[in-house]
Amino acid sequence: MWPMIIETERLILRPFFEGDGADVLEYLAEPAVNCFACMRLNSLEEAQAEMKKRGSETEYYFAIVLKETGKVIGEINAYPETGEPHADEDAPKDTFSPCWMLNRAYQGKGYAYEAAHAFFDYLFREKGARRIYAYTEDYNIPSQRLCEKLGMRREGLFLEFVSFVNNPDGTRTLCNTLF
Ligand SMILES: CC(C)(COP(=O)(O)OP(=O)(O)OC[C@H]1O[C@@H](n2cnc3c(N)ncnc32)[C@H](O)[C@@H]1OP(=O)(O)O)[C@@H](O)C(=O)NCCC(=O)NCCS
Repeated sequence: MWPMIIETERLILRPFFEGDGADVLEYLAEPAVNCFACMRLNSLEEAQAEMKKRGSETEYYFAIVLKETGKVIGEINAYPETGEPHADEDAPKDTFSPCWMLNRAYQGKGYAYEAAHAFFDYLFREKGARRIYAYTEDYNIPSQRLCEKLGMRREGLFLEFVSFVNNPDGTRTLCNTLF
């Protein structure tokens, strides 16, 4: 199958290549939010190895590339899930939950919205999406703004819902999560 490419006015969404390591390291050396702490990359070698793993991802995991320069400025992904909590194995996988992340230097320019809008369009039109939902921490205002602009509605707030990192004393840092 040819790799999927999604084009917008200023961006290309495409699968990752092995040569993307240095660009990805720029934003994953210090993941911007705790929920991505486990994705931290500590060196160019680690980043290149990670790009190799991502090479087989051709449908649901995309590099966000600036058309003008060819630079990878972020990433977006979402995988098909069954929508209901206790669904049978053969239930349709028509539900998606996106993760999105931009290099700090490229935030505040509308790129995340441009990429996510095109990605949602792709999921609805070509991947049978019925429902797209997102979890976001209550302090993550840019991600909430993005959800709102994409037409998502706030359905709930889960208090002390999840933990991604520990406090200095070793206890878990629990976050309140919007859905
Ligand atoms: C969440 C995240 C992807 C949002 O990125 P972003 O750049 O702030 O989002 P947008 O693309 O919507 O752009 C935001 C601003 O760019 C401004 N902008 C500037 N030029 C623009 C243009 N040409 N077109 C559109 N908007 C433009 C807009 O005014 C917009 O601000 P507003 O929302 O107040 O109207 C980013 O903050 C990020 O990577 N965060 C770290 C990772 C993260 O938190 N992921 C989610 C975990 S739940």
